[in-house]
Amino acid sequence: MESLVVTIRDLLIVLFLSAGLFLLCVGQEGPASTVAVMERREQEALYSAIQGFAGKWWNGSDLYPDPCGWTPIQGVSCDFSDGFWHVTAVNIGPLYDNSLTCAHNARFSHHLFELSHLKFLSFFNCFTLQSHKPVEIPFANWENLANSLESLEFRSNPGLIGAIPASLGCLKRLQSLVLLENGLTGRLPTELGNLVSLRRLVLGGNQFTGQIPASFGGLNELLILDMSRNNLSGSMPLTLGNLTSLLKLDLSYNKLDGKLPKEIGNLKNVTLFDIRNNNFSGGLIQAIQEMVSLEELVISNNPIFGGELEGIQWKNLQNLEILDLSAMGLTGTIPDSMAEMKRLGFLGLNDNKLSGNVPKRLAYMPSMKTLYLNGNNLTGKLEI
Ligand SMILES: *[C@@H]1O[C@H](CO)[C@@H](O)[C@H](O)[C@H]1NC(C)=O
Ligand SMILES: *[C@@H]1O[C@H](CO)[C@@H](O)[C@H](O)[C@H]1NC(C)=O
Ligand SMILES: *[C@@H]1O[C@H](CO)[C@@H](O)[C@H](O)[C@H]1NC(C)=O
Ligand SMILES: *[C@@H]1O[C@H](CO)[C@@H](O)[C@H](O)[C@H]1NC(C)=O
Ligand SMILES: *[C@@H]1O[C@H](CO)[C@@H](O)[C@H](O)[C@H]1NC(C)=O
Ligand SMILES: *[C@@H]1O[C@H](CO)[C@@H](O)[C@H](O)[C@H]1NC(C)=O
Repeated sequence: MESLVVTIRDLLIVLFLSAGLFLLCVGQEGPASTVAVMERREQEALYSAIQGFAGKWWNGSDLYPDPCGWTPIQGVSCDFSDGFWHVTAVNIGPLYDNSLTCAHNARFSHHLFELSHLKFLSFFNCFTLQSHKPVEIPFANWENLANSLESLEFRSNPGLIGAIPASLGCLKRLQSLVLLENGLTGRLPTELGNLVSLRRLVLGGNQFTGQIPASFGGLNELLILDMSRNNLSGSMPLTLGNLTSLLKLDLSYNKLDGKLPKEIGNLKNVTLFDIRNNNFSGGLIQAIQEMVSLEELVISNNPIFGGELEGIQWKNLQNLEILDLSAMGLTGTIPDSMAEMKRLGFLGLNDNKLSGNVPKRLAYMPSMKTLYLNGNNLTGKLEI
């Protein structure tokens, strides 16, 4: 009984295998060849590059003799072009159960830069603090990927240290640069402003210092700019007002100071503007009421920000859902017009120097769920 079952199962596997081979042959565009082809040099470069991260034990030619064909490597993708299979994506790190993970002594091999068709390169949780020694992003050879690379990501690599190499500025096809939660330090290179195809620039959760380069204003296509949780200082460059496509701007948790530039009023499509936990000053400016797509505006914890609520046409911000203006030294009263923000669900005005009567209409706002007014010198009664 049992042996019969096994036989049938084996038969099925044989059937599946031959079906797979058949499909491979049909899909093949070359004349007589039946096996997918890869340029030998590119195949060797892939093995050496991965071995650099995975460790000496990882023997690609043994484990994955046909990496773009019948022995695919988890995290590696290929495309067929000019009669060959080319490596187009390399994702290192424990994203899936059988992903490529990094050795304690993971390092960059120059062979990585021989994969000249690479579009997507990512490292997640690869360079950790348990590593023998921290690793820096290589400075040389990025120009080899300048015509292909569209996305470069380093996420959660605390053992990745040093500065962003200015040479990344040559990656003119790059649409997404994500350097999130690593151990990177130093100044942001001006050259990143040359990445004119960028749609997403995420530099959050490192220890970058110095000013935001004015050159970032040249990133015309940018949709997301996140530089939160660093040690950036200086003021917000006026040129950021040129980023008219921008949807999200997050500069929170830095040491930025100075006045908000009136140019931010050009950011008509921005839905998130978060500059909490900095040292901005100069008060609320009218440019804020021109950012008409705003859904979330957070300026809290800028202790010397100052200014008043009265000068702003709050009713212009009809998309606003979250408004956090706590702990920023606001004075004056709460204007009645704030109650005209129909979608507002969160309003934080706590820990300021606001005084006078609380407008009764605040209690009847249609979407209001959370309202903080404590830590002021307000009077009156809200009936809910
Ligand atoms: C991988 O294994 C093959 C055969 O077992 C051997 O010839 C080759 O040198 C090894 N390559 C590396 C990089 O260790
Ligand atoms: C960043 O700021 C934190 C807190 O002020 C400080 O502990 C850290 O040393 C700073 N890092 C750098 C690289 O300046
Ligand atoms: C960007 O903005 C600045 C200041 O608002 C302006 O002088 C400059 O011409 C703008 N254009 C570019 C491409 O930076
Ligand atoms: C702003 O958003 C609208 C609607 O999504 C879009 O048509 C327009 O092109 C955007 N503006 C810019 C400068 O990207
Ligand atoms: C914020 O700016 C003020 C005025 O420039 C300065 O006195 C203060 O030390 C700054 N605070 C921090 C935390 O940097
Ligand atoms: C609070 O406001 C009242 C008048 O509305 C004023 O007399 C009092 O001094 C204020 N208290 C503080 C601590 O500012």
